[in-house]
Amino acid sequence: MSRRLLLDNLPDSLRPGTSTLAVHAGEAHHKPADGITDPIVCAATYTFDDTQAVLDFNREKLPREEYGRYGNPGERVVEGKLAALEGGQSAVLYASGMAAIVGLLMTKLNSGDEVVFFDECYHRSREFCLKHMSRFGVVTRQVKACDYDAMEAAVNSRTKLLISESPTNPHLSVVDLERFAAIGRRTGVETLIDATLATPYNVQPLGYGVDYVLHSATKYLGGHNDLLAGVIIGAADKLEPVRKLRGIMGGINSPHNIYLLQRGLKTFELRMERHNANGQAVAEYLDRHPRVERVYYPGLPSHRYHEVAKRQMRGFGGLITFLVKDANAEQTAAIVDAVRIPRIGPSLGGVESLIEQPLVMSYLDYSPEQRLSFGIYDNMIRLSCGIENAADLIADLDQALKV
Ligand SMILES: Cc1ncc(COP(=O)(O)O)c(C=O)c1O
Repeated sequence: MSRRLLLDNLPDSLRPGTSTLAVHAGEAHHKPADGITDPIVCAATYTFDDTQAVLDFNREKLPREEYGRYGNPGERVVEGKLAALEGGQSAVLYASGMAAIVGLLMTKLNSGDEVVFFDECYHRSREFCLKHMSRFGVVTRQVKACDYDAMEAAVNSRTKLLISESPTNPHLSVVDLERFAAIGRRTGVETLIDATLATPYNVQPLGYGVDYVLHSATKYLGGHNDLLAGVIIGAADKLEPVRKLRGIMGGINSPHNIYLLQRGLKTFELRMERHNANGQAVAEYLDRHPRVERVYYPGLPSHRYHEVAKRQMRGFGGLITFLVKDANAEQTAAIVDAVRIPRIGPSLGGVESLIEQPLVMSYLDYSPEQRLSFGIYDNMIRLSCGIENAADLIADLDQALKV
C-alpha cells in the first residue's frame, strides 16, 4: 500500500486552507479497496510474516502497526490531520482531553519539579495538579490569569512547565500568547496552551513560540457530541517521549472512535464559521439584554481581553458565559430550565447547543469561598452555541429570560 499522502501532490506554491487540510491532510493517496474513506481497522494486534519481519520492524523502526495500545492506522491519519491543522510537526492523540493533559504532565514532570498555572482553567486540570501530581512531589503554583509578571515571578530553578488555557473555561479570558511564550523563552521553561475553546481555526499558538498545544477533541474537533478524544501537538522530538508513555499508559482511541473523529473533522471549518457567527450574534444579544449583568465573550468590545483577542484570533468561538442581573441560584436555574433548544449538559463545541449553570454542573463540591476564588457565581450561566440558526437561539433565550 502506497504511503504517499494526498496533499503531497500539491504544487509548492499552493498553501492549503483550513478546510482542504481538514478534509485531506494525513490521508493516504491510495486506500484499501480504493475506498475514498479510511477503513476502521478493528485489530488489537498486527501480524508479521516471519521472524525477520519482526526484527526489521524493531531495528529499523518501520512505520507500521504492532499492537493496538501503541497506535492504530486511523490514529496515524488523524494525528497527521491535526498536526497539519495546527501547523505543528507532530500530534499525539489520546482517549480524552484529560488523558492528554495527564499524559503530558506525567511525561515531563519528576518529583520536586514545579508547574505554574494561570488560575482560570478547567476544574479537572486544576484538580489533577493540586490533588494528584502533588502525591508524586510535584508542586503547582497558581497565579491570576493573564498576570504575566506574577507568572514570571513564580518561576524558579525547579519550574518545568508554564500552563494556560486560551480562552479560559468558563471565563473566556484570552492570553497574550506572545507574552506567555516570551516568559518561557526568557526563563528556559516549556509552555503549554490548552486551546480547546479556540481550536486551530481561531488561533495557532505554536506560531507564537508556545511549545505544546492541547485540545480536548471531544469539543469542536470531534464536533458532534458523540466522542471523547484529546490531542497534544508540537515538535516531533519533544513529543516522542510523550508518545512512548502513552503506549504504556494505554489511553488510546479505539479504531471506531478515531473514525468518528476523522469524519467529524471533515466539516471542521464549516462548523467553526457557524459557531463563531452564532457565538458573536448571541453574545451581542445578551450584552444588550436588561436582565443580563455581564457577558464574558472575547468578541465583545466590552470584554477585558477584546484587543488581544482581535489581534490573535480569527473568530471567538461558540462559548458564552453570562451573569443574570440580581438573580440567586434558583432564579438562574429557572432560566436554564426555561430554555428549549439548548439541552442542559456539560461539554461544549458540538453541533447541538448546550447550557449549564456552572454552580450546579461542576462546582457543588466546592465551598462558597472556593467558588468565589475561582470566579464562579450563583447567577452564572454557560452557553455553548451549536450550529442551529442564531435567530432561533436568540428567540429561545428571549422567552427564557422572561421567566
Ligand atoms: C478547556 C478544557 N480542557 C480540557 C478538558 C478535558 O477534556 P475531556 O473532557 O475530553 O477529557 C475540558 C473538558 O471540558 C476543557 O473544557
